[in-house]
Amino acid sequence: MTLQLTTVTKSDIGSHHKDIVLLLETVLKLAVEMMKADSGIILLREGDNLSTMAAHNIPTESADKLTELSSRAVNKVLSSGAPLLTHDAQVDPRFGEAESIIMHQITSIICVPMYFEDDVIGVIYLDSRRDRQHFTEDNFNFVNTFARMAAIAVDYARNYSKLYREKLLLYDQIQSSLRFEDIIGKSPKMQDIFKLMHRVMNSDITVLLEGESGTGKELVAKALHFNGPRRDKPFVAQFCGNLAESLLESELFGHKKGSFTGAIADKKGLFEIADGGTFFLDEIADISPTIQTKLLRVVQEGEIRRVGDTVSQKVNVRIISATNKNLKDEVDAGNFREDLFYRLNVITIRLPALNERIGDIPLLVNHYLKMFSDINNVPVKKISPKAMEILSNYHWPGNVRELLNTIERAVILAEGEIINADDLFIPDSEKLATGRKTLKEHEKELVLKTLEDYGNNKTKTAELLGVSLRWLHYKLNEWKK
Ligand SMILES: Nc1ncnc2c1ncn2[C@@H]1O[C@H](COP(=O)(O)OP(=O)(O)O)[C@@H](O)[C@H]1O
Ligand SMILES: [Mg+2]
Repeated sequence: MTLQLTTVTKSDIGSHHKDIVLLLETVLKLAVEMMKADSGIILLREGDNLSTMAAHNIPTESADKLTELSSRAVNKVLSSGAPLLTHDAQVDPRFGEAESIIMHQITSIICVPMYFEDDVIGVIYLDSRRDRQHFTEDNFNFVNTFARMAAIAVDYARNYSKLYREKLLLYDQIQSSLRFEDIIGKSPKMQDIFKLMHRVMNSDITVLLEGESGTGKELVAKALHFNGPRRDKPFVAQFCGNLAESLLESELFGHKKGSFTGAIADKKGLFEIADGGTFFLDEIADISPTIQTKLLRVVQEGEIRRVGDTVSQKVNVRIISATNKNLKDEVDAGNFREDLFYRLNVITIRLPALNERIGDIPLLVNHYLKMFSDINNVPVKKISPKAMEILSNYHWPGNVRELLNTIERAVILAEGEIINADDLFIPDSEKLATGRKTLKEHEKELVLKTLEDYGNNKTKTAELLGVSLRWLHYKLNEWKK
């Protein structure tokens, strides 16, 4: 059996994969030190591929590493499943003429399979060169046992990452088959939002979502898409904040081969991919003037042009955009094109910060308690009244996102059935602070708002609020200080 050899580079491995690499690097380091080996390598089988997971004293950049060491030893172990020890490779008839053995003056080799149950999932290879000491039977037995333990650890890590991926997938499914009921909120502010959403749901109308980070803008965008006429077509989201202009441009619009260094092939832009569906532009306030101009063409004419292309193409996308800034302010400050603003802002839905709807906190807490208990496969935990009070009073700068992270951690960390104040990762000082406004603050807000609504007319304001003009003057003076 021949196996194809691929090289794993650190940049193209996921984080769980990185954990396995790290684990095997440690295993190899230990084995090399204890056996006083000159070089070593650990290869893992992934389907029909053999990947280098760790190497010592063997150049890692060459893709055909197997010629570097004794490929014969590795292949023998992989195909037979039997461990191999040679005391003196130079005279061993199994290896005598192998080029790498002679070239590198390899004298002694230990190569053992990593068994998990009945499968060989990889090999550990060690060699000793020139006239260094030769490996012994004891060394051999040790590495054999060591390989079995390493295989168990690898299997464990792989299962863990599989479960983790499944969890993400599940979470994604929950989010993407979004029903309106999944958006939690009974507060008047949320009721207004639901009303607005119902009004725009069956149309293609362009919507701008404003609100702090974590208030549910993306959630609303998805709900509009998955409950609207385009639900069977793609929903594509692109984060536009803090991205290099050229990168964002080629993501959104695609590019022609050769249009810039690194454009080695034609690439479809996301607008083409979203054709027929909904495009969610997240953090829209941050896009550059060039891209603003290109976007205007998309919303006005339904046309895009790949970077470096001479012809345009038609696309049909519904645009929903989001920002945590006030987009009108950005227009006034000259950072955002006014014409584009009006095109994007046919309807604005402003998501309230969580501390503007604290009545919804218990609902959200209970919803996420159930969800994270289900995902983590534990019985649904309860929350103590004290803990609920802390959650209701905290000011939640990260809004719902922060709340749900807090709940997930508490579900995982709380030892008993009940989540107590100590299980909440909220700074202790914050646990005491109240997020609610004082009566005085409400008073000030109401007075100033009424004044503004009545064009600074103090007589009218006093009359409306049922206070004397004197009282109003007195208060205004006090607030000036
Ligand atoms: N009203 C809500 N009900 C339930 N979950 C919510 C609500 N608002 C936000 N979330 C959840 O909070 C997290 C952050 O929401 P997201 O839509 O990404 O916020 P934003 O886009 O405004 O930063 C998501 O996991 C989302 O499902
Ligand atoms: Mg977001």
